[in-house]
This record gives sequence, C-alpha cells and structure tokens, in this order.
Amino acid sequence: MIEFHGQRLRDAFHVVVFTGAGVSAESGIPTFRDALTGLWERFDPAALATADAFRNDSALVWGWYEWRRSKVRTAKPNPAHLAIAELARLVARLTVITQNVDDLHERAGCHGVVHLHGSLHSPRCFACARPYEGTTDQLNEPEDGRRIDPPRCRHCNGKVRPGVVWFGESLPEQVWRDALAAVKDCDLLISVGTSGLVQPAAEIPRIAREHGAVVVHVNLQRESVQGEREFSLVGKAAEILPRLLAQAKE
Ligand code: OAD
Repeated sequence: MIEFHGQRLRDAFHVVVFTGAGVSAESGIPTFRDALTGLWERFDPAALATADAFRNDSALVWGWYEWRRSKVRTAKPNPAHLAIAELARLVARLTVITQNVDDLHERAGCHGVVHLHGSLHSPRCFACARPYEGTTDQLNEPEDGRRIDPPRCRHCNGKVRPGVVWFGESLPEQVWRDALAAVKDCDLLISVGTSGLVQPAAEIPRIAREHGAVVVHVNLQRESVQGEREFSLVGKAAEILPRLLAQAKE
C-alpha cells in the first residue's frame, strides 16, 4: 500500500481541510461519539440539541451550551489547528470546512472558515432570528448541568438560542453551497477527526472523490478507502498534521 506523503500537498492547487470534533480533542474539547469521553455518551441529544428541547426547557439547553462555550473559551488551539493554519500559507488555496462549533481554527489563524453546524459564539433570537448583540459572558464559569435562563432579544423580547444547527434543522443554505463549491473544486481533501455519521456533512469526502480529488482521512481509527486516490492515516490529528506539514516543506 502506498502511504500518503505530505510532499503531495505542495503539488495541490486547492486543498480543502474538512474537520470534525477529533481535531479539537487534544485541546480538551470532548468529541460526541468516542466511547466514554463523547458528549452523546453522557448527555441525551434529544433533550439538549433540538428545537423541541429548547421549547420545553430553554434554561437547561442554554446552560448546557454555556457550559460548552466556557470550555471552548479556556481551550487553546492545538498543533493540528496550527498546522492547518500554516498550510494556508504554503498552498495556493486552502478552504477549511468544519463541523465544529468552536472557534479554534480562527484562533489558530485561519480565515474564512466554513462552519457547517454554526457556532457557539453567534447566538440569535429563537423567535425573530436576529443576531443577539449583547454579551452572554457569565461572571462565573457555568458548571455542567446548571440551568441558566437565556437572555432576551432586544428587538422582540424572544429568547436567545445558541447559533448552532440542532438535530432536525437544515444547514444554512449559503454555507452548504459554499462548502459544496469548494469540495467540488479542490484537488486534495483532508478529512480530520470525524466519524462521518451526520448528514449531509458526511457526504463531503465522497463528493470530493467523485469530483476527482485525492482524499486523505486522519483519524484514530482506520477508515475504509476506495482505490488509489484515497488514504487513511491512523493517529492523533495533533501529531499527523504537523508531520504532513513538515513533509510538505521538505
Ligand atoms: P464524532 O464525535 O462523531 O467523531 C469524532 C471522530 O474523531 C471519531 O471518528 C474519532 O475516532 C476521531 N478522533 C477522536 N480523537 C481524535 C484525535 N485526537 N485525532 C484524530 N481523530 C480523533 O464527531 P463529529 O464527526 O465531528 O453535530 O460529529 C459530527 C456532528 O455530530 C457534530 O458536528 C455534532 C454532532 O452531533 C451537531 O452539533 C449538529
């Protein structure tokens, strides 16, 4: 089997890096589906990550997202985020598409990140959808499980909701269009730390492959690959991505 070598990055014109929770794992942000540590092992998505859950108990949902946001606030980008940001300076064009709702790619120095599932940092009104302009910072770091009443919209007094995509909701149309345009245009796609179980994001590696791109998976688990243009690199993102970057610079 031929291993993917980072030198091939240099030959690529447009690289897409497509990330999931695994890229932030080594920054201390829990993933969703990893055994024991994944969020969905400990919490019920139906009670926390749906519009119905917010209607039923907005303080429970808002408190949970504030807890997650406080974890992100104190986390730092890890060597995987930093290597991706540096790669942007090495290749002709780089697009980062993420399923993550944290801002660690941006804090590592990436620009124009496509956030498929929204962001913890862009709350909006549940009723009128206007962006929330006030601060939501807590005086004390919220604890896991603490209920917090959401702030109110300054325009319509509706409850403010997290700016993330919940189960049962569609991706923002323009965001998905931007992602598809980049995926169809790229000649190399690196998929990092995603279980590939949530649609439509899970289709991204396949779409890239069908449009002729080389696809490289970076994950703790081996991914099944098709043909000679798809590769699986097994290990931690924070180790593999800096290694690929170093090879690209050789
Ligand atoms: P998952 O938790 O489903 O998958 C994380 C993946 O990262 C797994 O395949 C792990 O093997 C891998 N992984 C864990 N640590 C890693 C590391 N240090 N280096 C490399 N790989 C590692 O997370 P996602 O695929 O991102 O949706 O989940 C997709 C969506 O499901 C999320 O965006 C979220 C969730 O419900 C919404 O919130 C809408």
